Amino acid sequence: KKNIQIAIDGPAGAGKSTIAKIVAETLGFTYIDTGAMYRAVTYKALKQNIHLDDETKLAEMLTVSTIDLKPSQQGQLVFLDGENVSAEIRSNEVTSSVSQVAAHARVRELLVAQQQKLAANGGVVMDGRDIATHVLKDAELKIFMSATVEERARRRFIDNEKRGIESSIEKLQEEIALRDKMDSEREASPLIQAEDALFLDTTDLSIDEAAQAILKLAKEKM
Ligand code: C5P
Repeated sequence: KKNIQIAIDGPAGAGKSTIAKIVAETLGFTYIDTGAMYRAVTYKALKQNIHLDDETKLAEMLTVSTIDLKPSQQGQLVFLDGENVSAEIRSNEVTSSVSQVAAHARVRELLVAQQQKLAANGGVVMDGRDIATHVLKDAELKIFMSATVEERARRRFIDNEKRGIESSIEKLQEEIALRDKMDSEREASPLIQAEDALFLDTTDLSIDEAAQAILKLAKEKM
């Protein structure tokens, strides 16, 4: 059995993290949520009142910050400078600001270096926007996962309800569409399907069906 790298990219709310977690668990691999890292940076920048357009200040802040991802019973926990910020990084404020922070090339460079280190030994499932195109260009399996924006907003709504975050489907749809636009149109590593990635439309798939589809492909590569 080979410790392969699995890259899962796609727009917001396509089910990447839920499905990636199941795939990782089933294979005994490590799950790495790169979006959580961009969220942690954004959370800290907001807290420190750093202007989200100030690339230099953001990069400086990041060089003196530590972001750790730790697996736990409740999924992946995110620690920023030793503090558990797993809930905080999912707030509406962070969600609506993160694409602005993630657009900066220097912020990305620093996080991508960390992500590559985490994945160096293989046996990983990593999800994000630029994993197949930049972070893990040699990943054995690359998946581009999407679903209609209506379905993605519906899923986020249910997700938010579970987390106790208030939201409306219309607002979520707007927020998701705007984030996708910013992520796809930025200059630094935009969200795009890699040429060698397989497209997986999850609109009409259950979580388990999507996970099984990826597991089948993974096992062929192992
Ligand atoms: O995956 P999630 O929705 O938590 O990601 C939050 C944001 O982080 C994305 O909208 C995107 O702006 C940024 N991101 C990124 N590159 C990644 C992962 C996330 O730019 N690899």
